[in-house]
Amino acid sequence: MSRRGFGPRDAAALALGADAVAGLLRQAGDFELVRTGSRGLFWLEPMVEVETAQGRIAYGPVGAGDVPGLLGVLPAGGAHPLRLGRPEEIPYLARQTRLTFARCGIVDPLSLDDYRAHGGLKGLARAIETGPAATIETVTQSGLRGRGGAGFPTGIKWKTAADAPGARKFIVCNADEGDSGTFADRMLMEGDPFVLIEGMAIAAIAVGATKGYVYTRSEYPHAVATFDAALDAARRAGLLGAGVLGSAHAFDIEQRVGAGAYVCGEETSLLDSLEGKRGQVRAKPPLPAHKGLFGCPTVINNVVSLASVPIILTEGAAYYRELGMGRSRGTMPIQLAGNIKFAGLFEAGFGLTLGELVNEIGGGTLTGRPVRAVQVGGPLGAYFPPSLFDTPFDYEAFAARDGLIGHGGIVAFDDTVDLAKQARFAMEFCAAESCGKCTPCRIGSVRGMEVIDRIVAGEQPEANLDLLRDLCETMKFGSLCALGGFIPYPVMSALGHFPEDFRPAHREAAK
Ligand SMILES: Cc1cc2nc3c(=O)[nH]c(=O)nc-3n(C[C@H](O)[C@H](O)[C@H](O)COP(=O)(O)O)c2cc1C
Ligand code: SF4
Repeated sequence: MSRRGFGPRDAAALALGADAVAGLLRQAGDFELVRTGSRGLFWLEPMVEVETAQGRIAYGPVGAGDVPGLLGVLPAGGAHPLRLGRPEEIPYLARQTRLTFARCGIVDPLSLDDYRAHGGLKGLARAIETGPAATIETVTQSGLRGRGGAGFPTGIKWKTAADAPGARKFIVCNADEGDSGTFADRMLMEGDPFVLIEGMAIAAIAVGATKGYVYTRSEYPHAVATFDAALDAARRAGLLGAGVLGSAHAFDIEQRVGAGAYVCGEETSLLDSLEGKRGQVRAKPPLPAHKGLFGCPTVINNVVSLASVPIILTEGAAYYRELGMGRSRGTMPIQLAGNIKFAGLFEAGFGLTLGELVNEIGGGTLTGRPVRAVQVGGPLGAYFPPSLFDTPFDYEAFAARDGLIGHGGIVAFDDTVDLAKQARFAMEFCAAESCGKCTPCRIGSVRGMEVIDRIVAGEQPEANLDLLRDLCETMKFGSLCALGGFIPYPVMSALGHFPEDFRPAHREAAK
């Protein structure tokens, strides 16, 4: 009978008391507790697991008060009201295709031995063996597109940087994760940081970069600490340094912590911020792949994009490409948040419909009231009503309905939501977060708030609605970056799908 257990140290689990639970379990004598990341089933956190002859058995959500009663049964995986059975058989996990998050919630995030034992470093070994051109070709053939929001093909980006002349090249990882309702980057950095290090090392070998930076948001102190500790462990083990895994490639990574401006997630602002300047959007061209950090060719990729590369190299391009639909290949870690019963991370091949994700997997709203709207893709994403829930999770399908999947966040709202308020909030957010470089965004967002206020107050509603549509057109086509350029999506979708919320009579009746 084993006395080895697993308890989460993920920030979401910590917020729900995981440290107190772990402390009590450790006091129980010979019970060895490994602290892991989260499996991403937040309503069951803190979820504690124990190794038994039948595999791991999970219990959750475990509160500190449950521990005394659990201690007698836990080591043998015995019966208890909180017993969930084998985690892999919990329907929420059983329905997933876990590639990028395969180890998250399972391994000790800071043990390279555990990482290796669960298939880690095979992708990097393959990249070293086959060389840059074959590595780039595999990533291109896999169909991987950037998971940060824009969905740009990763292989093409890498090829551009590899072909760009330059004595120094950089790999920059975008871990700013500013989108509302998203937490995939954070979960990976806390739960499986070596997969990101491995992905960055593969990118470095592919393009000939010797230095990498990870730009992490300051609101993620646990991710920052775990990732720094993983970097130290990687250096000690020769995974980073003068000869990566004993090869001729030199590569090291430094983590930098941003101050939390949404616009610093935009790649060129991020580069300015990394260079020690105020984060402001740069005009393109030049592309970062040609002239990026300190004027050198730079690959800038999201955490999930980079962390998806090791499995692609390990299993081959076809294995990854087989999953998904249309031009959206592979898997996407979808993050269910807001007013939703089963909030958490759900990794699956592209193609599930929005309705399946929100109602079946997410279980509808936490309040039990009808779902009225979901915002997909962060603060720049559109609000979708249930009548569009047949939309498959796919870059092109969302674009065809004036939406975007962004970083894969879905924020659900019940029938008490006021979409006019949400539209105003979009403008307010844009005004607060605008870098100020271009007029449509800097001034337009403030005018947007004012005009929405006039509409809901019933002041010349038709003329002001026309003005709002006109303003949104100007912002969409006249802004320098996607902050000002995409804010019209939440605004116009709120107006288009929920016009009644903008009418004063309706608003009075709803009070
Ligand atoms: C306002 C704004 C904020 C952004 N925030 C993020 C972010 O937090 N994380 C991210 O990976 N990409 C973000 N992006 C997208 C990046 O500019 C860029 O496309 C991405 O980092 C490229 O990596 P990928 O190809 O792997 O997605 C943002 C873009 C804009 C316009
Ligand atoms: S759209 Fe806004 S955030 Fe983007 S460059 Fe213009 S002012 Fe800056």
